[in-house]
Amino acid sequence: MDGFGWTAPNPLSCELETERLIVRAYRLGDVEDLFNAITESREGHLLPWMVWCKENHRTIESTTKYVCDQVLAMENPMTFNNVGVGIFEKGSGTLVGGTGVHDIRKETSSCETGYWLRKSAVGNGYALEACARVLSWALAPQGDGGLGLQRVRLYCSAENTRSAKLIGKLGITQEVRQRRDFFVEGLGATDRLGWGVLAEEWDCEKHCAIAAG
Ligand SMILES: CC(C)(COP(=O)(O)OP(=O)(O)OC[C@H]1O[C@@H](n2cnc3c(N)ncnc32)[C@H](O)[C@@H]1OP(=O)(O)O)[C@@H](O)C(=O)NCCC(=O)NCCS
Repeated sequence: MDGFGWTAPNPLSCELETERLIVRAYRLGDVEDLFNAITESREGHLLPWMVWCKENHRTIESTTKYVCDQVLAMENPMTFNNVGVGIFEKGSGTLVGGTGVHDIRKETSSCETGYWLRKSAVGNGYALEACARVLSWALAPQGDGGLGLQRVRLYCSAENTRSAKLIGKLGITQEVRQRRDFFVEGLGATDRLGWGVLAEEWDCEKHCAIAAG
């Protein structure tokens, strides 16, 4: 028994538009842009928060493998449970960061999301705009172009104040504060903050939380 028995839309695609951004599945042509964005942002910005870039994306081959894995993930709805997608500025086409849906759990029809921006793109509201759009993609019914999931969760260290501030602006429910549960290199065991949003709490057309009451 698969619980809610969520299955991915078939075919799968991700091409989302916001006022200023395109959030879309990676293509092989994005490798260099992605590699450069991570390389220029790794020290003192992505780290210590994005642990995946400590070892990965150190070479263009590593980023090529990552992009190929994301392309393959989108091509296989039967095994789809995790995908990273790029955030691009609409006018320039520049890759400004990444987001995605991760750890899809079929039995609860749920996933996790996250985000990062290249250092030069911070301070424009781009991550908030992309994250809100991804929540709508995840929670909208499949008939409306969404993934049809029932719940999305977001986590960050309490020490990651920029990230916590962003999630606060989404207007969704903070569900947990797990004390000393989130290891951050250089800081040690920090508190894990966790938020959750249910499909019926999110307006997928306006990309914002539905006010309680
Ligand atoms: C977390 C992270 C994505 C936040 O980036 P950000 O640009 O601060 O996030 P937002 O998209 O919410 O933008 C908010 C900022 O843009 C400003 N802004 C400017 N124009 C804006 C607009 N039109 N709309 C909204 N905000 C705007 C806001 O005032 C705010 O700046 P402030 O915090 O200095 O007041 C970024 O710091 C990052 O990539 N960190 C490393 C990776 C990471 O930690 N990821 C999260 C892991 S849990």
